[in-house]
Amino acid sequence: MTATLPLISLRSVGRTYRTDGIAVTAVRNVSFDVDQGEILAVMGPSGSGKSTLMNMIGLLDLPSEGAIYLEGTNVADLSEDRRSTLRARSIGFVFQSYNLLARHNAIENVALPLVYCGVGHKERLGRAEQSLEAVGMLHRAHHFPRQLSGGEQQRVAIARALIASPLIILADEPTGALDSRTGAEILALFAALNQTGQTIVMITHDPGIATQCRRTIHLHDGELVGDETQIPLIPKRSVAS
Ligand SMILES: Nc1ncnc2c1ncn2[C@@H]1O[C@H](COP(=O)(O)OP(=O)(O)OP(=O)(O)O)[C@@H](O)[C@H]1O
Ligand SMILES: [Mg+2]
Repeated sequence: MTATLPLISLRSVGRTYRTDGIAVTAVRNVSFDVDQGEILAVMGPSGSGKSTLMNMIGLLDLPSEGAIYLEGTNVADLSEDRRSTLRARSIGFVFQSYNLLARHNAIENVALPLVYCGVGHKERLGRAEQSLEAVGMLHRAHHFPRQLSGGEQQRVAIARALIASPLIILADEPTGALDSRTGAEILALFAALNQTGQTIVMITHDPGIATQCRRTIHLHDGELVGDETQIPLIPKRSVAS
């Protein structure tokens, strides 16, 4: 029998920022695992350390205490270059503000992460088309961000996050800038992607959104104060719906 490692393990993770001699401990003593195929919400008030935690899970930042393991590898043991490569191949980021490049159309935005994975131009565009199709946006492939609604821009951002077939999608308030109906559509898209096996960690302020994830981690003043598993409310939907 082979024991499967968690995709991500956090062990007593802490992060203290030091600015002008002032230390702010944003995350303290946080431990939990994320298994392959999970969809989990991270909740907590403003300033509770959610984004700090996400930056560490996403290999953008390292813990100042404790350790993070990605498929069993302590990410602090990797060189900066290896960590960047691993990030490009393993993590898909989605932000509240979409972060699309204004001067590039949807398909170019989606294809961009593959440049860092050394994929050739033609294959990049082919895979970007597939990724746009997976989020129901292929019909807008040649539109620029300013020609798209907020919900459409977020779909393009999700297609970009998916393109390198990441181990995990990390989303920081992905519905925070959207009206509730569009937010619900984006959530349904995440749920559908999760049903195809995609692991997703989503930060949210919104309890309504969190209850639709199978598991919720609660942070307060940088500490983990809850880790609950609930019955999902989302019915099965197709990815492009
Ligand atoms: N780069 C930084 N330098 C110094 N302090 C920081 C930095 N980033 C965050 N902090 C501090 O760390 C704490 C946690 O911030 P973080 O952004 O992780 O919170 P959050 O839960 O994501 O909040 P929000 O819901 O408002 O996005 C806050 O007190 C914040 O001021
Ligand atoms: Mg934040």
